[in-house]
Amino acid sequence: MATVYLNGAFLPLEEARIPVLDRGFIFGDGVYEVIPVYDRQPFRLRHHLDRLQHSLDGIRLANPLAPAEWETLIGRIVAEAEWLDQGVYLQVTRGPAPRDHAFPKTVRPTVFVMATALKTPSAELVSGGVAAITAADNRWLNCDLKTTSLLANVLLRQLAVDAGCAETLLIRDGFLSEGATSNIFMVKDGVVLAPPKSNLMLPGITYDVVLELAAAEGLPHAVRPIAEAELRAADEVWLTSSTKEITAVVTLDGQAVGSGRPGPVFKRMHAAYQAFKHRIMRGQDG
Ligand code: PDD
Repeated sequence: MATVYLNGAFLPLEEARIPVLDRGFIFGDGVYEVIPVYDRQPFRLRHHLDRLQHSLDGIRLANPLAPAEWETLIGRIVAEAEWLDQGVYLQVTRGPAPRDHAFPKTVRPTVFVMATALKTPSAELVSGGVAAITAADNRWLNCDLKTTSLLANVLLRQLAVDAGCAETLLIRDGFLSEGATSNIFMVKDGVVLAPPKSNLMLPGITYDVVLELAAAEGLPHAVRPIAEAELRAADEVWLTSSTKEITAVVTLDGQAVGSGRPGPVFKRMHAAYQAFKHRIMRGQDG
């Protein structure tokens, strides 16, 4: 039985309970993080904790824990979990209070942390890629905050599942924003392109790593708005996230992307990412 953390206590998942008036349950009034852990080494933990702070600031909720306290807490969850590779999920809500949209006078935030097994993309997925669709990005204008109010993302991602696809790529005002659960890159004529960070997308931790690796590998790359027409004419499309790492998108709305197979730039970036991960496992980067 997996051990989770809830409001100061470590207990089995099955015994963790929150009051029904928790504002996370009533309003989706909370934020979260998903941190990949390889061989019990959290990947880019400080970056995830910085983004958590950004999300908390964005919803005007004081961080209940200092960074060192988060590190200790996450360290214990990771140490006690049964898997070497894990996804650590943490959530902070504005806590239980009588139902009223306005903030309660006294806030008792709910803090929840759990680990699950991390299933990194299989060899078939890496060599074969995935299918994706596009949809209009109908989310709010604070997509840079990792909030638990995920209904729009849930509905958009389900469109992909209904179509037998892995992801929904989101288009807002004629430009690519991101995926329903991932960031999106494309390659044209050997140049790696990514949309710039803004309020319209989540600043992905994997996105940052991929751009750093592009620079380190000497791959031509640019961060700039990507028009829908450019996306549809891409040689390669990739999605990135903490759980999917880097995965090639090989069909978009039923049309082949480039050759219809994961491309040469993807293969190079995928290899660079795996090498980077292994350096993390040896404790050479945080
Ligand atoms: N989601 N964009 C959205 C909307 C996401 O939900 C995610 C990740 C990303 C990628 O961010 P990162 O590289 O930091 O994981 C981009 C996580 C994995 C989730 O909600 O489960």
